[in-house]
Amino acid sequence: MKKVTVHDKEFEVYLDRDTIWSRVQTIGRQLDIDYKGLNPLFIGVLNGAFIFAADLFRVLNIEAEISFVKLTSYEGTSSTGAVVSAIGLKEDVKDRHVIIVEDIVDTGKTLSEFLPQVLAQSPASLKIASFLTKPEALKHDVKADYVGFEIPNKFVVGYGLDYNGQGRNLTDLYQLVEG
Ligand code: XMP
Ligand code: MG
Repeated sequence: MKKVTVHDKEFEVYLDRDTIWSRVQTIGRQLDIDYKGLNPLFIGVLNGAFIFAADLFRVLNIEAEISFVKLTSYEGTSSTGAVVSAIGLKEDVKDRHVIIVEDIVDTGKTLSEFLPQVLAQSPASLKIASFLTKPEALKHDVKADYVGFEIPNKFVVGYGLDYNGQGRNLTDLYQLVEG
């Protein structure tokens, strides 16, 4: 099993790049069907979602737009901090079909605070596409509509996800080796 060390911790491959790419294309095909003719607006949540958002967006065949926001709710390997409000939601989401693109829905806190901010601007529809979900960790009433992979409640890095800033450039997804 391929292993890497990020800062002080050891991680092993959990999902390889081919598995990830193939799943991204499947979700893209579904979005092509669901959003044909609707010119949806994708809103990627920085920093973690930048790679998933880029991959997902470039497999689309339909007319679509993309923008990014930056939120913060995370430090170290547990989801603790408070959500700081969105920086940069400049696009007019009123009457638009909006898809929030996340790297991971963990406790759901980030989206439970961000979604009302988007809904307040009266989008025509609002859905969530998340590369990962951790069902065992979910504490808030947030459900992703398009999910790459459901994963166990273990910390992961790679494919845009970081451990204290490092590891985002790993092409595979890695899981923390416990102990
Ligand atoms: P919540 O708990 O608000 O968390 O749903 C969402 C944000 O927390 C980060 N997160 C992780 N980042 N590996 C990471 O690199 C993980 O296992 C992990 N779990 C949560 C992530 O930034 C996400 O947007
Ligand atoms: Mg992060």
